[in-house]
Amino acid sequence: AAKAREQRLSLTDVLAKAMGHYRDQLKRSDRAIAYLKKRGLTGTIAARFGLGYAPPGSHALASAYARYDDPQLVEAGLVIHKQETGEEERRYDRFRDRIMFPIRNPKGEVIGFGGRILDSGEPKYLNSPETPVFVKGRELYGLYEARQAMRERGHVLVTEGYMDVVALAQLGVPNAVATLGTACTADHIAKLMRFTDAVVFSFDGDTAGRRAASRALEAVLPHASDTRSFRFLFLPPEHDPDSFIRAEGREAFERCIAEAIPLSAQLMAVAAADCDLATPEGRSRMLAQARPLFEQLPDGLLQAQMLNELAQRGGLSVEVLAGHWQRPVPGKR
Ligand code: CTP
Ligand code: MN
Ligand code: MN
Ligand code: MN
Ligand code: MN
Repeated sequence: AAKAREQRLSLTDVLAKAMGHYRDQLKRSDRAIAYLKKRGLTGTIAARFGLGYAPPGSHALASAYARYDDPQLVEAGLVIHKQETGEEERRYDRFRDRIMFPIRNPKGEVIGFGGRILDSGEPKYLNSPETPVFVKGRELYGLYEARQAMRERGHVLVTEGYMDVVALAQLGVPNAVATLGTACTADHIAKLMRFTDAVVFSFDGDTAGRRAASRALEAVLPHASDTRSFRFLFLPPEHDPDSFIRAEGREAFERCIAEAIPLSAQLMAVAAADCDLATPEGRSRMLAQARPLFEQLPDGLLQAQMLNELAQRGGLSVEVLAGHWQRPVPGKR
């Protein structure tokens, strides 16, 4: 009977059980606790995010489930099952000796994990594989924990990392989420729009972060509208949101949020990259680079404003630019 009950668990129940196991293991590991303390995290914030620890053994999860060979553990991405030819089948825990970040859907169900290595080693983060309940390009870390705060504050901060979300929440910025080591997608934006109509992107100041910002621009353009707000925050090159707020404090971070540049300015900046706007060549190049971005904007006043702005910066009348791009001139038919 116990076995039958075990089999009726949903994948999210199986994963919730793992979260409980990892949390218990964290309480028993001085080394993992010391790591979290070194990162400046309190027990309260670790509990709020359900942080845990996967111990080093390769079958540590066996103590948490009735059957270690339950196919659901493999389906949930917790156990890796290798069937090598001519050899005995082998099962072992995917996550070993890692700090565990449970990823929850907006309902609060556990759908996957990110696991960070303590100190150095590769890969730094290991994530759950795609499973029936975990589709990476669609999920955002911290959405469940941030859902109330993003409604209250009227905007969401989109960061790159697990630690960014947790550190920001601890230091008084609880309305942050993170993409899961993937580019920000149009699906991510659609999901966020269910909670708020204002997004501030805060990527790392490194080159990867800057690349992520231009990918995010592409993801948001189709979602831009006259009532939504998308802004971009650039931190100094050496920082990510976690390190910045710890080094400079909450007020300095809030100032960065206030100064984040709007979508229109980010579009201009991306279009004008490597362009000398003092020359006709540079202005033409800027317009050529702007066109594919501009064309992703939905019809509306923002699009009309942007055409006007691009014409001005490009040194052309809006009629000439509209004619060239085969767009209707705003206000004329
Ligand atoms: N990431 C990943 N796999 C890696 C490296 C990174 O999935 N091997 C994802 C993680 O979600 C990570 C995010 O990309 O949080 C950003 O990467 P990075 O800036 O390198 O890590 P941090 O979040 O800053 O992590 P930490 O502060 O713990 O070093
Ligand atoms: Mn706001
Ligand atoms: Mn980075
Ligand atoms: Mn970091
Ligand atoms: Mn980072």
